[in-house]
Amino acid sequence: MKHIFEQGIRPDAPTLVLFHGTGGTEQDLLPLAKRISPESSVLSLRGNVLENGMPRFFRRLAEGVFDEEDLIFRTKEVYDFLDEAAVQYGLDRRNLVAVGYSNGANLAGSLLFHHPQALRAAILHHPMVPRRGLALPDLSGTPIFIGAGSNDPICSAEETEELQWMLTEAGAAVDVHWERFGHQLTASEVAAAADWFRDQL
Ligand code: MLT
Repeated sequence: MKHIFEQGIRPDAPTLVLFHGTGGTEQDLLPLAKRISPESSVLSLRGNVLENGMPRFFRRLAEGVFDEEDLIFRTKEVYDFLDEAAVQYGLDRRNLVAVGYSNGANLAGSLLFHHPQALRAAILHHPMVPRRGLALPDLSGTPIFIGAGSNDPICSAEETEELQWMLTEAGAAVDVHWERFGHQLTASEVAAAADWFRDQL
């Protein structure tokens, strides 16, 4: 997968794995990584799917309607890439923390839904429920931050609560931070994620 790797200065710090939103690139979330954990190594991915020229992490049939078969395929593709990148860059595979926004948060959420031990923790900005009707792996001891908008037109407050409930039922420790700026990723939401990271990891 197309990606950027930046070596951190503290080898025992979690590696941040970045997942951009629709139409973004692997450059987009680099400033967030600097806010959240400046000493960490960073592995920033570009989604392998194009929608009218816009990079995404998996196909969708319409706004908010996911192509489930592609979602499962792309999730496994990212999972395998993380295994390979950990070997290539000498990373501790058990110490990867996802940071995703929107479509990227949905792919990171899908990693948690489908692959046990995929991530040590996750920061999900404006995620949706990636899939329904499956049993989640045991997520005991997995800290998850969700940044959400109470008036987000793409991911409703109800869907955020549903996701929180599903992850909590699977054993994850979920913290939801609410804002009122729709689907936007605001500086205050990033600051809340950085505070949460310092407390949890
Ligand atoms: C998605 O397709 O993943 C979500 O609708 C978020 C988006 O990218 O607009």
